[in-house]
Amino acid sequence: MSEPRRLCDYENSSYRTDFWEGQGREYEDRAERLALRRLLPPAGRRLVDVGAGFGRLSDFYEGYEQVVLLDYSTSLLRQAQERLGRDPRLAYVAANFYAMPFAAGTFDAAMMVRVMHHVEDVPAFLGQMGHILAGGGSFVVEFASKRHLKSILRWALGRQRWSPFDPEPYEFVEMNFDFHPAWMRARLAEAAFHVKQCRTVSHFRLPLLKRLVPAGALAALDGLLQPTGAWWQLTPSVFCRAVLDGPPAPATEELVFRCPACGSSPLRQAAEAMACDKCGRRWPIEDGIYNFKVE
Ligand SMILES: C[S@@+](CC[C@H](N)C(=O)[O-])C[C@H]1O[C@@H](n2cnc3c(N)ncnc32)[C@H](O)[C@@H]1O
Ligand SMILES: [Zn+2]
Repeated sequence: MSEPRRLCDYENSSYRTDFWEGQGREYEDRAERLALRRLLPPAGRRLVDVGAGFGRLSDFYEGYEQVVLLDYSTSLLRQAQERLGRDPRLAYVAANFYAMPFAAGTFDAAMMVRVMHHVEDVPAFLGQMGHILAGGGSFVVEFASKRHLKSILRWALGRQRWSPFDPEPYEFVEMNFDFHPAWMRARLAEAAFHVKQCRTVSHFRLPLLKRLVPAGALAALDGLLQPTGAWWQLTPSVFCRAVLDGPPAPATEELVFRCPACGSSPLRQAAEAMACDKCGRRWPIEDGIYNFKVE
């Protein structure tokens, strides 16, 4: 079920301190929160944060009865667990997003920020999202756009060889992809996701401007411009809310897992593990973190 695909492994990375804390990205952080606030349904039964990392965006979990933080990096999930605690409402799940360990229609909402740029096989990934979301469920997804103003200017001045208008994804650093907004919309449509809203984010990602204008003011200005994403997208970051076609699934009381190795569900709760009676695999629960990482 899970062919080997290239992954971006954040295990033991210092993502939190290297990228966010004291790294001059308060403006981006605030602008992203403004977009999420407008796009993510504020409440619901069950939410998954795909590539949740250290739980930076945990404020958005509040209105949900149950939340799954899914990430390939056990060490980042451990940081999230330290920050957010062992609340029974939160499930920490280490897994590969190409082999989602959940039964069909498990979630009524999903969010994914700063993760799509690590997805090399977008159709395969969206197939997994279509499986784990219930019909009518919202998928709020951010992606890095290749067709932003700076890149258009660089290309027009001959300082960039690749065209921002070419629809194909561009790998600017190994396992980091920028996408054309129309290409992404087409892939979402093929996977039965209907884009309902779009907001453009980070209009002012320019070092000089960020130095001169306080982050809060710049983010507020960004918030005012974000709705123009409905008409054109010329920023390095685009947020969309896409809704999955299909009948809604009744929400189960408990989180129902499926085996990422053989696809069988449900799994049986065993001592410190989830057991698959079909293929015999045991998926360990290590100090409050479900480990479904397929080697
Ligand atoms: C740039 S971080 C973003 C974290 C968080 N969403 C945020 O905005 O702070 C990218 C995250 O995607 C996760 N990731 C990358 N590839 C993955 C995969 N194949 N399956 C699950 N998570 C993955 C990484 O472990 C990392 O935590
Ligand atoms: Zn199995």
